[in-house]
Amino acid sequence: MKIFHNKTELKKSIQALKKNQKSIGFVPTMGALHQGHASLIEQGLANDAIVVVSIFVNPTQFDNQEDLVKYPRTLDSDVALLKTISKDRILVYAPTVEDVYGKDVVSMTFKFDGLEHEMEGRFREGHFDGVGTILKRLFEIISPDRAYFGEKDYQQLMIVKKLVEKQNIPVEIIGCKIHRAKDGLAMSSRNVRLKPEYRTAAPFIYKTLKAAKEKFGTKSANKVTEWVESQFADQELLELEYFIIADAQTLKTVKRKHNKKIYRAFIAVYADDIRLIDNIALN
Ligand code: PAJ
Repeated sequence: MKIFHNKTELKKSIQALKKNQKSIGFVPTMGALHQGHASLIEQGLANDAIVVVSIFVNPTQFDNQEDLVKYPRTLDSDVALLKTISKDRILVYAPTVEDVYGKDVVSMTFKFDGLEHEMEGRFREGHFDGVGTILKRLFEIISPDRAYFGEKDYQQLMIVKKLVEKQNIPVEIIGCKIHRAKDGLAMSSRNVRLKPEYRTAAPFIYKTLKAAKEKFGTKSANKVTEWVESQFADQELLELEYFIIADAQTLKTVKRKHNKKIYRAFIAVYADDIRLIDNIALN
């Protein structure tokens, strides 16, 4: 498996592949790869000849330095997992901060038509400017035909679609379903940091999302939100940061339901000091 730490070498390889009419898929990640990432890569391999997987813990998207420092970095086991998926159709790009950013590790500022002010944008200052900055850079380096993103980070997926539209980046963005552990917990690189009692408590998040979906059939968004908040008030190990029912396109919080609109529920929860997010389609 080819692993590149340097963008010049990677670009050369990609150019040669493109000359041979090979389509390039791209799965950006921050590593600590799990089955959720694997499902994106498999979808990539189903559509594209080659899939580039970037593994890079992007400093500019962290609003919390401790989270950045503690973020798991496990390149050897990541590569081992990738080898089980494909030995010859995956290229890994695992750059240094300098290879991507040069000397100036700063974010650009973006406008995403208001998507950036909701939920994660509200609770994580500067997060989506950091995400936009790294993805614009990676799209320039890799120039993929298609790029794959998980609905696990649904707001990110919507923002990436907006980014490529506004910046005229010629890449097709493909959204992929959320991959869950058997007990329902959405797979996440942060899950490995959960202490056992918190890992045991965490499936309550998806269980509550499913119950909220059920209730949304007959109850108002406000009533469902109040119900979810009351459920978390009884949880000792899980602290609710937000539960929001939003329009799936604009991500604006729902005031009154319209039967033609599509809604989604979004949740962020602290389990100890680890922040978990999840979401579910409601209709
Ligand atoms: P990371 O959290 O590593 O996620 C990389 C990709 O995997 C994202 O598109 C994310 O939505 C997807 N993913 C994570 N867990 C998933 C799951 N359980 N099911 C389906 N897809 C899942 O998201 C990032 O990294 C970064 O913000 C990045 C886009 C790489 C920019 O730095």
